[in-house]
Amino acid sequence: MNQPINKPKPSARAAFATRIGAIATTAGAAVGLGNIWRFPYEAGAHGGGAFMLCYILFIIILGVPVMCSEFIMGRSARSNELGAFRLYSKRRFWRVPAYMGIVASLMILSFYCVVAGWTVEYFVKSATGSLQLASQDAYRDAFVDFTSGNLRPLFWTIIFLLANAFVLLRGVSKGIEKMSNVLMPVLFLLLIVFCIHSLTLPGAGEGLRFLFTPDFSAITPRVVLGALGQAFFSLSIGLGCLMTYASYFTADTRLGRTAMVTAGVDTLVAIIAGVIIFPAVFTFGVSPESGPTLVFEVLPSIFHRLPLGPLWSALFFFLLMLASITSTISMSEISVSYLVEEKKMKRRTAVWLSTGVAMLFGALCCLSFGYLSGFTIGGMTIFDIFNSVSSDVMLPVGGMLISIFVGWLLPRSVIRREMTNGGAFRFPLLSLIVFSLRWIAPAGIALILLNSIGIL
Ligand code: ALA
Repeated sequence: MNQPINKPKPSARAAFATRIGAIATTAGAAVGLGNIWRFPYEAGAHGGGAFMLCYILFIIILGVPVMCSEFIMGRSARSNELGAFRLYSKRRFWRVPAYMGIVASLMILSFYCVVAGWTVEYFVKSATGSLQLASQDAYRDAFVDFTSGNLRPLFWTIIFLLANAFVLLRGVSKGIEKMSNVLMPVLFLLLIVFCIHSLTLPGAGEGLRFLFTPDFSAITPRVVLGALGQAFFSLSIGLGCLMTYASYFTADTRLGRTAMVTAGVDTLVAIIAGVIIFPAVFTFGVSPESGPTLVFEVLPSIFHRLPLGPLWSALFFFLLMLASITSTISMSEISVSYLVEEKKMKRRTAVWLSTGVAMLFGALCCLSFGYLSGFTIGGMTIFDIFNSVSSDVMLPVGGMLISIFVGWLLPRSVIRREMTNGGAFRFPLLSLIVFSLRWIAPAGIALILLNSIGIL
């Protein structure tokens, strides 16, 4: 077993100011477009209830242990992802998950900022009252016109990335933590209001049945892989994002509790988003399989029916924009902390470098809906490729490697110390977490990946 090579230097790094701030910030990293935009369309495209069942199982069985493993590594090493792997192993192979995490984070950032740009457009449209259209078809056409219009979506993608860079430059504790503490609860309350409204729609019964009644015969390898990718994407695990955040945790942050609260809140928000969208999907006659455009076609119709619709709509898209930025800053932090700590770059240079890369690839993803829509590989546009390769392949592989690393290579004493804050309390699930990291997570993820490519 490899022993730690260097002693961590806790005082050298920024830290989240409060324990609750650490939980809110981690939840802020997890909750975002993944829950409100990606979950409903993935569930819609993969049979509703069958997808939901697999998704929830993966969150509990694989998501929580992998999240704990990232927390353990991040806080014990107090460094960027590469530094954390290097601390516990000299083998070059263990640089692979770190580099893969950096690449995956930049790929996700690229397409994520395109969708975040759509939320900015919808915020502006709502605030100026121009999101009030006559029919469901008009909402769909307006969205297609906008996304295929090239310049405007590109403009918002770039603006969003600039805003992201601005927050990153203000530093970890000040910028990110303050924003998450205030905004996450407001977004949650707003979602509850919309959820109650959706339950009064005529298609509510059908929508809820679609989402919550699993048709076991619909559980195909594609559905299982989609649910796995969604679970990892939504929890922001497998790419070192939460490992990097955990390196800013203080010694009294309870890792197990933070993982469970984050996974619980994240899943709840996704389910609420589903309960908002599917009743409306069946009420307004939209296909659940509409793909990435689903939510942007359906939500405006919901807001249209509400009294003071433009106000609700503007508030919602504003908060979604901010929920997106708490996720994008967490993903950017992976490459920024790598460049600062490993490449000795100034934080400012690192932020602009990763922003520049995301802008370049973000532009390609953005134009996938316009100029580049005809450029496909295996029927997938650049946007689709970035989206599914990062989420359905790189994050699960990354999660598998991180769990093997923590389960088999990290000294058990480090795992125990981190999960109990140096023995300050008992953590009864410790053996279960270790067992999951050693056996269940690696074997489960490997089986799903092999099954999805037809090997098993
Ligand atoms: N976990 C982030 C989200 O769901 C990426 O939006």
